[in-house]
Amino acid sequence: MSTAQQVPDILSPEFAANPYPVYRMMRDGAPLIRHEATQSWIVSRYEDVERVFKDRGDRFTTENYDWQLEPVHGRTILQLSGREHAVRRALVAPAFRGADLQERFLPVIERNSRELIDAFRHTGRADLVADYATRFPVNVIADMLGLDKADHDRFHGWYTSVIAFLGNLSGDPEVAAAGARTRTEFAEYMIPVVRERRENPGDDLLSTLCAAEVDGVRMSDEDIKAFCSLLLAAGGETTDKAIAGIFANLLAHPEQLAAVREDRSLIPRAFAETLRYTPPVHMIMRQTATEVTLSGGTIPAGATVTCLIGAANRDESRYRDPDRFDIMRDDLTTTTAFSAAADHLAFALGRHFCVGALLAKAEVETGVGQLLDALPDLRTEDGFEVVERGVFTRGPQSLPVRFTPVS
Ligand code: HEM
Repeated sequence: MSTAQQVPDILSPEFAANPYPVYRMMRDGAPLIRHEATQSWIVSRYEDVERVFKDRGDRFTTENYDWQLEPVHGRTILQLSGREHAVRRALVAPAFRGADLQERFLPVIERNSRELIDAFRHTGRADLVADYATRFPVNVIADMLGLDKADHDRFHGWYTSVIAFLGNLSGDPEVAAAGARTRTEFAEYMIPVVRERRENPGDDLLSTLCAAEVDGVRMSDEDIKAFCSLLLAAGGETTDKAIAGIFANLLAHPEQLAAVREDRSLIPRAFAETLRYTPPVHMIMRQTATEVTLSGGTIPAGATVTCLIGAANRDESRYRDPDRFDIMRDDLTTTTAFSAAADHLAFALGRHFCVGALLAKAEVETGVGQLLDALPDLRTEDGFEVVERGVFTRGPQSLPVRFTPVS
């Protein structure tokens, strides 16, 4: 194992400003770092992160979520393994793919995107982060669940607090306290809604979750509340960063933006490359069940492992010229990019592979398509340089754009 003294710390301002050169140093010279402040072992090479994610639970478990997420959500499928995970996942997964996604929820996605764009399409300028990306996915989930539109702002506040709790690597007590408050507030809001929906089911996702049954197992009110809390955080923050990221990357490469504008079937390619190049989630943790040897050394049993997705996705042993954004690259497969057979690591892999990957794809395809239609001549505000924010999740802080308004 390397002592990695020359590698900037993952909690340093230098790393937060631009983690990519640090990721390279880690992959090259310190593929396994013992990190005291987070009490974890950091891995950065593609082959190691892939191996951790694909493990069936014998060597790497998700027990880290007992302290990383359970205090804010309650218990969710992220913490489960084996048959219990399979059954619980089967209860929720059908709503996020196939006919449910295409017929029930695609109209919800299209409507929510259009409403946001209508608010700025005639003005000639917008901040694609504040006016669109941070609003769209959370509005979609709230609407899919059949919740009151008037409550969307509260949802926005809750998911921000949950994500801050998850990424609280430095253990800030205020962030922890805000997370605990969110858990109470969310339960007070959600449990009565779940009970009411059991009495009066509708055609919404919440009613589907109330009625879902696999092998005689159904979800309790508490299970549903916890899952909804996970949906807000897992589906809001991530897709928000993905949409901002795809536009930041395309605007920085005008010829690729022009190609996507010309041929909308390239949107999934641009999304897959964005997931590789600037993944919304940069770190995912696991807990070792036994002593494990990875590149650079051996990790003891019972340790926390920090898997750096952002580093693994730019591993030169896996991708040619990995620091180049190229939607036409031939070493990233778009057809499998939104399934558990993906070769980028942005949705993780294995049994906890993102349940919402196809929903995210539908949101991005709809959102990017509608924005390109509504905003001709789209360009970044003069003199603006994109600043990325975040270490655990990461994306553009703002993205002010100009365009020619259509009458
Ligand atoms: C670009 C957008 C997204 C990214 C990058 C992303 C990323 C991830 C990652 C990395 C995991 C694995 C966590 C782990 O293994 O510890 C995950 C799991 C999950 N995601 Fe996503 N996600 C996205 C969108 C969504 C959406 C839209 C939803 C649903 C509304 C969603 C719901 C979930 C759920 C429920 C899990 C847990 C699955 C399980 O434990 O079996 N995600 N996601």
